[in-house]
Amino acid sequence: SGIKDLFAGDFYIGTALSGRDVQNQSQELMVPLRSNFNSLSPENLLKWQSIHPEPDRFNFDRADRYVEMGEGMDSHLVGHTLVWHKQTPDWVFQHKDGTGRSREELSFLMKSHIQMVMRRYKGRIDIWDVVNEAFTDDGQFRRSTWFNVLGEDFIKLAFEAAHKIDPQAELYYNDYNVWKPKKTDGILSFVSRMREEGVEIHGIGMQCHLGLEYPTIGQLEEAIQKIVDRGFNISITELDIDVLPNPSGRQGADIDANFPYEAQYDPYQNGLPNELKEMLANRYRDIFKLFLKYKDHIDRVTFWGVRDQDSWLNNWPIPGRTAYPLFFDQDYRLKKYLFDKLLHL
Ligand code: XIL
Repeated sequence: SGIKDLFAGDFYIGTALSGRDVQNQSQELMVPLRSNFNSLSPENLLKWQSIHPEPDRFNFDRADRYVEMGEGMDSHLVGHTLVWHKQTPDWVFQHKDGTGRSREELSFLMKSHIQMVMRRYKGRIDIWDVVNEAFTDDGQFRRSTWFNVLGEDFIKLAFEAAHKIDPQAELYYNDYNVWKPKKTDGILSFVSRMREEGVEIHGIGMQCHLGLEYPTIGQLEEAIQKIVDRGFNISITELDIDVLPNPSGRQGADIDANFPYEAQYDPYQNGLPNELKEMLANRYRDIFKLFLKYKDHIDRVTFWGVRDQDSWLNNWPIPGRTAYPLFFDQDYRLKKYLFDKLLHL
């Protein structure tokens, strides 16, 4: 049995797939995929930049393959993401001469993008991250071009457009650090207001790029409880746990003073020391225990990748690091030391 079987009846267990994954669909990937996951997310291949890189150039090949692959596996399918300030080509935000778009132009482009993508996969993709990362850690609207030109209405416009095209689809707002109290509160008061105004919005995606110690289980639980109290569903959309020191203080962690800067480059390149394996396993156990406690409100838990080798954490914020955040090793072997801790929660 695989990870999904441990949580059958509780929530879907998902993973993100890269463009290469859906292109190759190699046996070494497909075997662990089928036995461990029943939900799929596209790591990059449904982002604006991937499918519509230039005004008159579209590229749906990989996105199509992703959806076909998921259907072949009988998997639940996620669409990530429709409106974001990143991985969106410059032409969306400005004219060729560098001048910015007007309100009318930008809202038109946003709506037509949502229409084009969602129509293509209507009834096939179950759940969408409609808007990604629109708030800052202190609960303010992020000053992105979307916000600067359209104001907070851009979020509403996006959800309205999405619901119109596929009324059956589950529509989510997705962000990182949703456990930070100001951020959670800022998001919740806005989406609650939106819902009161009649906008269809079904849940909050908590990315969950976590560290070994931050945030605490208590901090995460507090945020989950707040979301539940407001009557929104939760998806855990991008779970991974970073054991590397944090030179940038990423994702709310403090800068790691235990490591001299040189050691932060690639401290565990010869494999993770046993005590860190143990810490990682205990951390995953505690996290899943918490998710199980709220299983009535959490519809899925998605890992941000299958194998360590393919994790974005290898390269961010420092390129070339070796990270060990996921459930499969470089050879697609399920890490027993992690899996075993999930057996009796
Ligand atoms: C990341 C991908 O994993 C990388 O391959 C890419 O270079 C950058 O984006 N929040 C999100 C995801 O919503 O889309 C991001 O994915 C990670 C952070």
